[in-house]
Amino acid sequence: MIELADYLKTRRSSLSMSLEAPGPDEAQLKDMLTIASRVPDHGKLAPWRFVLWTPDARKTMHQDLTKLLVAKPDMPEAGKKQQGTNKLLHGPCVVAVISKSSNHPKIPQWEQILSAGAVCQNMLMAANAHGFEAQWLTAWYIYDKDASSILQLEQGEAVAGIIHIGSCSTPKKERPRPELGDIYSIRES
Ligand SMILES: Cc1cc2nc3c(=O)[nH]c(=O)nc-3n(C[C@H](O)[C@H](O)[C@H](O)COP(=O)(O)O)c2cc1C
Repeated sequence: MIELADYLKTRRSSLSMSLEAPGPDEAQLKDMLTIASRVPDHGKLAPWRFVLWTPDARKTMHQDLTKLLVAKPDMPEAGKKQQGTNKLLHGPCVVAVISKSSNHPKIPQWEQILSAGAVCQNMLMAANAHGFEAQWLTAWYIYDKDASSILQLEQGEAVAGIIHIGSCSTPKKERPRPELGDIYSIRES
């Protein structure tokens, strides 16, 4: 077993289009979701939820989102957006992390949204812990209000991440990272 610090120093996502079967079984997925939900959450609001998008649901969503794209001929970069939509069809397991932040008297909405981001990151690491690869995606349709019924979002909800999980034997290349000196400073007074 690799040390946690070594894992954190070297972890990487895999491209969703490189993810193949097997994906997690039900018990593995439930364990991953349990891990993912163990995040800092000011006020214990649990301002997020998970939805497993099955292959059949993804096919339905893909059809409906494609129709929506066609119905919006003025949409810029429609071809790229269709490619983003097509990613839905690929891979053994896709889980949406839905942020459900609300106007709370004490906990700012920003903090609730940040907590949903932490859930997404935990989900990637939980997938790795179970021996799977994963990637956190977003897409045009999570920002399009006309798509919210296709995504079955309630009022005030937003998709924080579309987490693709599966297996991948392709070695991962290193990705440039910020120099610590560029992002770290010390304030002394
Ligand atoms: C909120 C969010 C949305 C992202 N959406 C996409 C996306 O739509 N397509 C994509 O290729 N990468 C997207 N990424 C980037 C990848 O998930 C990931 O950062 C990248 O592949 C490298 O990550 P790594 O440091 O875990 O290897 C997104 C990242 C974040 C945080």
